[in-house]
Amino acid sequence: MSDKATIEIKGKTYEFPIIEGTENEVAIDIKNLRSSTEGVITLDPGYKNTGSCESAITFLDGEKGILRYRGYSIEELAEKANFLEVAFLLIFGELPTKEQLEKFHADIKAQSVVDEDVRKIVDAFPKSAHPMGVIASLTSALTAFNPSSVNVNSEEDMYKAIVKILGKFPVLVAWTFRKKNGLPLDYGDKNLGYVENILKMMFKQPNEDYLFNPIVINALDKLLILHADHEQNCSTSTVRIAGSSHVGLFASLSTGISALWGPLHGGANQAVLEMLEAIKEDGGDTEKYMAKAKDKEDPFRLMGFGHRVYKNFDPRAKIIKKAADEILNDLGVEDPILNIAKALEQEALKDPYFVDRKLYPNVDFYSGIIYRAMGIPTDMFTVMFALGRLPGWIAQWREMRLNNEPIGRPRQIYVGETLRSFKTIDKR
Ligand code: ACO
Repeated sequence: MSDKATIEIKGKTYEFPIIEGTENEVAIDIKNLRSSTEGVITLDPGYKNTGSCESAITFLDGEKGILRYRGYSIEELAEKANFLEVAFLLIFGELPTKEQLEKFHADIKAQSVVDEDVRKIVDAFPKSAHPMGVIASLTSALTAFNPSSVNVNSEEDMYKAIVKILGKFPVLVAWTFRKKNGLPLDYGDKNLGYVENILKMMFKQPNEDYLFNPIVINALDKLLILHADHEQNCSTSTVRIAGSSHVGLFASLSTGISALWGPLHGGANQAVLEMLEAIKEDGGDTEKYMAKAKDKEDPFRLMGFGHRVYKNFDPRAKIIKKAADEILNDLGVEDPILNIAKALEQEALKDPYFVDRKLYPNVDFYSGIIYRAMGIPTDMFTVMFALGRLPGWIAQWREMRLNNEPIGRPRQIYVGETLRSFKTIDKR
């Protein structure tokens, strides 16, 4: 392949370098397009064809259904690793040794106390507030209690900020959940594993011991791993672009949480469950809803289906579907909406509308069914996603700052009015 791309614009020819990634992905490097062509830019709404960075964190091949963190396959990590190991891997690039993992966990635990004044902020939210709005605000509020900005030239400073947020975020998640459910706010238990501690912080009743269920711990561990990173998706790109202005880590993360909330992104897990419930309430007629999804006059979309990058299958959905069966079985839960979900998938797999558009179940299609079996309410699903995605956002923010990337600032093609004269109000 030529190492140059030739572009002809208004009769003039320009050459741009071709760059290739380690997995043979090819891009035209247009860094100098505007300067060498006197102002020509590319237009790509939704960035469907635009690479915003070079990244060494996550590789995914949407055609082949491959997802790897730092070179390790998602299937192997979901089976053999725990969430904290995966977090370390994503952020620092290598799997931790036993000592590194112990230190990482100890440092996180040492930072897992949240300023008591944050409780006042939690208290000020009405119980009706959506937990994603609350957790985004609380993450942003952390900047007020930890005002010193991170010196990104100091690995030590960077590390401190990272363990701080990994320690405090689960407490904020638990407080968000407990406040909504009228439970007293409390702290975690230093003797527990990262994921066990999250569950206890969320669910412990004030008047009884929390009984650990290894099935639930393993299920949450696996779900968090599967959600931990997904290269330049909407929320991650948001974190990177906010962070590129050199705003701090916590503020950057809160922008990512807000972006994740939308139903076309992480909010789809809540939307899927609500859709499956609505189909059940409506008599379970999956064909009717398939027809609605295909009807261009109807705004209804089959939530949990389709993906910007995966055009064959989402490897995370495969793992989660299998896990859903096992976990519901192990927990002795019979959930009729699992059958509705399976029926929709079966119909979609043979329906030309879905086949032609390469629409398959994504990570969110089955995850809500597992969360529900674990006792997590629907409006907390996207918060659980955020818990999982936290290390990915951190890794991407760190990479962006260490690579000294320029501030993110896309251009536009202006299509508004050309110059016109101001008319005073009496003449309009
Ligand atoms: N149901 C019905 N039709 C769909 C669906 C769906 N879920 N998804 C895409 N389509 C159709 C579109 O109408 C469009 O049809 P057309 O070519 O006839 O106009 C075609 O498939 C392509 O869809 P786009 O919206 O252009 O694809 P895009 O890559 O922009 O969007 C997205 C991807 C947002 C995920 C989309 O498939 C969707 O809305 N899915 C439902 C929401 C969802 O599950 N989101 C979670 C994604 S995973 C994650 O973020 C964690």
